Parts: sequence; C-alpha cells; structure tokens
Amino acid sequence: MNVFDAIVNRKSVRSYTGEPLTDEELDKLLAAANCAPVASAMYHTNHLTVIKDRELLAEIEKAFGAYAGREDVHPLYNAPVFILVSVQMKDPPASKEDWLNVVCSDAAIIVENMALEAVELGLGTCHIWGAVRGINADPALRDKLGLPEGFQPVCGAIFGKSDVAYEPREIRRDRFGTNFIG
Ligand SMILES: Cc1cc2nc3c(=O)[nH]c(=O)nc-3n(C[C@H](O)[C@H](O)[C@H](O)COP(=O)(O)O)c2cc1C
Repeated sequence: MNVFDAIVNRKSVRSYTGEPLTDEELDKLLAAANCAPVASAMYHTNHLTVIKDRELLAEIEKAFGAYAGREDVHPLYNAPVFILVSVQMKDPPASKEDWLNVVCSDAAIIVENMALEAVELGLGTCHIWGAVRGINADPALRDKLGLPEGFQPVCGAIFGKSDVAYEPREIRRDRFGTNFIG
C-alpha cells in the first residue's frame, strides 16, 4: 500500500475482536512511532507505554467512566493494545504554553505514524484522547503506568484485529478552511 492510500483509507475503528497482536505487528507499530519527526530531535521528551494487560485496560476504561460520570462505558472498544504517549512537563526550556505546543505536536505525530502503519498491517486503530483524561484524573492509576518522573499522558491510540475493513474513502479537500496566499 502506498502512503497516500494508507492516508485515504485510514478511519477510526471502534470494534475489535480482542485477539492479541503478534510481536511482529507490535514491533512494526513501534518502529513507525520511532520514525516520527520530533522538534529539535528531543526524543527524550516523549515516552510510550504499551498497555496489553487486560486488567489495566479495564481499569483505564473504568477511570474514564468515573471521570465522565457514566457507567458501562468502553472507551477502548475491547482493543487488545493501547499505546499511550506521555510528554515531559518538567523544566521546560521555554514558556509552558510554547513547550506544550511543541511536545503535544510531537505526540500527535507519533500516534498518527502508528495509525498509518496499522492501516498498512490491516489492523484497526483509533486515536484516543477521552481515556487519557480519565487517566490524568486518577493519580493512583497514573502511578501504575510506570512513567518516568515529570511525564504526563497526553494522547494515544488503540490497535487490534477487527472485522471492519479499510476501503477507499472519498477524497475531500473542503474539510478544513483553507486560504491561499500568492
Ligand atoms: C486527537 C484526537 C483524539 C481523539 N480521541 C478519540 C477518543 O477518545 N475516542 C474515539 O472514539 N475517537 C477519538 N478520536 C477519533 C475522531 O473522533 C475521528 O478521527 C474523527 O471523528 C474523524 O473520523 P476518522 O478518524 O474516521 O476519519 C480522536 C481523534 C483525534 C485526532
């Protein structure tokens, strides 16, 4: 599959069989993540957490339920893998806002690199932000993630086998307001 086809065909998949990923599939996703462009090549300011532990995945779903005030929610959609991206918040060299802008941009690109590789591998994927809010609202849960000191979860994505197939999607150019100069 060429890059443009992967970009066009990618879509948020919210239904998973629950089957585990193979080691090769996971390795490819992490390789794609590690190819991401990162501001000033400061790779150390991003951290990945690969969560396959079923109990922890269930706890994350529960934390989101508590955060959102809703029971029986499944923000991870029975996916067997959730890869969380955390960024370093400690000792920013610039203002906090500038720093957040940069490190969150890095994190989003890392996730999208993995998402496109998932399309190539025929795996379902979906960017996840809601469940991250649940994690950040539950310090005890956050402690279980084994994050390095000073890191905060900001985004992530789920991955897994799915019965939902990728098909060519309509190609549009009008979703984002766009202005042309010159
Ligand atoms: C930063 C970001 C966070 C998102 N968080 C969630 C989420 O928590 N749960 C979810 O089901 N979808 C989430 N999505 C998926 C969007 O809802 C989805 O990308 C959008 O509706 C467009 O659909 P598409 O991905 O199929 O093109 C997120 C997407 C992005 C880019």
